[in-house]
Amino acid sequence: MKIEGNVDLTMDFCGLRLPNPFLLASAPPTANAAMIKRAFALGWGGAVTKTIPPDGMVITDVSPRLKALRNNNGTVFGLENIELISRKPLSLWLDEIRDIKQCFPQNLLIASLMAELCKEQWQMMAVSLQEAGADALELNFSCPHGMPEKGLGSAIGQDEELTRLITSWVKEVVSIPVIVKLSPNVTDIGRLALAAEKGGADGLAAINTVSCLVGIDLDTFEPQPSVNGFSTFGGLSGPAVKPIGLRCVAQIAQTSRLPISGMGGISSWKEAAEYILVGASNVQICTEVMLRGYGIIKGMKEGLTRYLKSKGLFEVDGLRAQALPKLVSHESLNRNYRVWPDIDKQTCNACGRCVIACRDAGSNALLINDSKLTRDDEACDGCSLCINLCRSLKAEMKS
Ligand SMILES: Cc1cc2nc3c(=O)[nH]c(=O)nc-3n(C[C@H](O)[C@H](O)[C@H](O)COP(=O)(O)O)c2cc1C
Repeated sequence: MKIEGNVDLTMDFCGLRLPNPFLLASAPPTANAAMIKRAFALGWGGAVTKTIPPDGMVITDVSPRLKALRNNNGTVFGLENIELISRKPLSLWLDEIRDIKQCFPQNLLIASLMAELCKEQWQMMAVSLQEAGADALELNFSCPHGMPEKGLGSAIGQDEELTRLITSWVKEVVSIPVIVKLSPNVTDIGRLALAAEKGGADGLAAINTVSCLVGIDLDTFEPQPSVNGFSTFGGLSGPAVKPIGLRCVAQIAQTSRLPISGMGGISSWKEAAEYILVGASNVQICTEVMLRGYGIIKGMKEGLTRYLKSKGLFEVDGLRAQALPKLVSHESLNRNYRVWPDIDKQTCNACGRCVIACRDAGSNALLINDSKLTRDDEACDGCSLCINLCRSLKAEMKS
C-alpha cells in the first residue's frame, strides 16, 4: 500500500487495484504505448487506450479537427473535436498492450474498443484484448461524431436495447471487468446506465464529449473547425462541460449500483474531488492533459492528498458519494431559507453593475446613494444574481 503522508490514494475499481484515482481518458494522450508508459512513469494510476477499431475498419482523420473556446483572457475553457477513434487497428494495438503491461504491471490499463454491429467482431476483439493483458475493457458507446453516422458510438449509447445487448455479448466471452462509457447526449442517462447494468457491465464511465457546434466564422460563414470550408457537429470537452459531467455522474450514481469512472472538465484535484463526492470511484482526464501535459498528475495527487487530510480522511473512498444525499428534488428544498447580499464596503466601488442587473433582471433592491451601494431588504427576494455577478457581494444567510 502506498501511503502519502498517512493518506492512502490506492483504491479498488471493479475488483482491480489502482495506485491512485487518476486515469488518462481514452484520447490523444493515450494514442500509443510509448505515451502511456511515459504517463505511468510520471505517476498516473491508470490509462484507457484511445478507442481501438477492428482490423479492416478504415479510420481517416481530418485536419484541422480541434477548435478551442476561449474566455476574454484567452484561457481555453472548452475544446471541440471532430477526431475519430484510433487510426491504429486491433492487431497493431495488441503488442503495445503487452508491452505496457510488462513495463507497468501495477498500473491499470483499460482497453477501449468499438466494433461494427456484429456479435462475432465485438467478441473477437474483447477476447484478443483480454489475452494481450488488458486489465479491463471500456466499450465506447458514446463518441458523438463520425462514428454515429455508421450506427456506432453514441448511436449505440442512445439506444437502451443495443447498449444492453452489446454489453452482454462482450460479457459472455471475457472474465476481466467490462466498463461501459456512456454519452451525455441522451434524455436520461440513468436509463442507459441501467441498460448497461442489465447487460452485465461491471462498471460505468461518463461522460464522453457533449455534442456541439463551437462557432461560425463571421467573415466566411464557415462552421468551426473548418475543414476546407466545411465542418460537422463535434464533441465538446474541457472545463465548460464539467457541470454536465457532474450532473450525469450524480444521476448515474442515484440510479445504478455499479462503480463509476467520472470525467468531463477536470482540470485540477478540486473537480476530481467533486466527481468523487457525487459518486465516482475514480476520475479520467483528457483535455487538461492535452493543454498542460502529463506533469499535472503531481499537483493532482498532492492536492487531493491535502484535501483528504483536511477533511480527516485517509482514503479516497471516504469521500465517495458524500454529496449525494444532499441532492434532493426541487420540491424538497426549504422555502424559508433566504440569502441577502452582504456588501463588502472595503472593495465595493459602487460601479453600479449590480444595480442595473437587479433593476433589469431582479427585484430592483440595490441602489446607489451618495456614491455608496445600499440594499432594500423589503424589495430583495434573495435571487442571488448580484452575488454571482460581483465578488464584493457575499451571501448573507437568513432562514
Ligand atoms: C481529441 C479528443 C479525442 C477523443 N477520443 C476519444 C476516443 O477515442 N474514445 C473515447 O472514448 N473518448 C474520446 N474522447 C473523449 C474523452 O475520453 C473524454 O470523455 C472527454 O474529453 C471528456 O473529458 P475531458 O473534459 O477531461 O476532456 C476524446 C476527446 C478528445 C478531446
